[in-house]
Amino acid sequence: MKKLIVAPSILSADFNYLKRDIETIEKAGAEWLHFDVMDGHFVPNISFGIPVLKCIAHSHNMVNDVHIMISEPLKYAEEFVKSGAEYLTFHYEACKNDKEVKQVIDIIHQAGGKAGLSIKPKTDVKVLDKFLPDLDLVLVMSVEPGFGGQSFMYEALAKINYLRDVVDAKDYRCLIEVDGGINQETAKLCADNGVDVLVAGSYLFGKEDVKERIEGLKNA
Ligand code: DX5
Ligand code: ZN
Repeated sequence: MKKLIVAPSILSADFNYLKRDIETIEKAGAEWLHFDVMDGHFVPNISFGIPVLKCIAHSHNMVNDVHIMISEPLKYAEEFVKSGAEYLTFHYEACKNDKEVKQVIDIIHQAGGKAGLSIKPKTDVKVLDKFLPDLDLVLVMSVEPGFGGQSFMYEALAKINYLRDVVDAKDYRCLIEVDGGINQETAKLCADNGVDVLVAGSYLFGKEDVKERIEGLKNA
């Protein structure tokens, strides 16, 4: 039985007590920390960026899984990696063309990071095909990016299933991650379709039984 990786999204943390909340989820068994960067342009919300990442990236022992929902990833990718992003995941839809997607992947690798590529719910999963050999992670959005606390979009399952088949058939290294509306029920559906990493925000932060919830997701 495959153990899944759980990546709590700090977008749902209490920012008055960010250090406390990060310590809580680490103690509760999270191995990754999902860091949602939003620029108010690529998505209709503004969250946090480089100064906050610099401050928290080395304050814990979890993997920094940085998700940049920003325009112009080409311009900022290197700085995010140098500021502590171990995985840096950008959006296919934020790039002008496939050439630019490849450029961002290369910049992330040259800066010493692992490259992730994300697609929004309305984007065809097949646009990822040509990048899979070079990627360390693919992120399937199961909500429209921009906010925590939304409901899971079930069409994400077919994308996860498709990616699992391709990654296994070609023996690619890239992990398959899903993000948005994850709870015990939706995590099980994603696990049944071959996901590797589960991002969860509102299901985990501020919950008394966060340890049990993380354990439940790991074994979904
Ligand atoms: C949405 C973010 C997600 C979000 C997940 O744009 O990328 O990571 O914070 O929050 P929940 O788990 O509450 O849907
Ligand atoms: Zn995210």
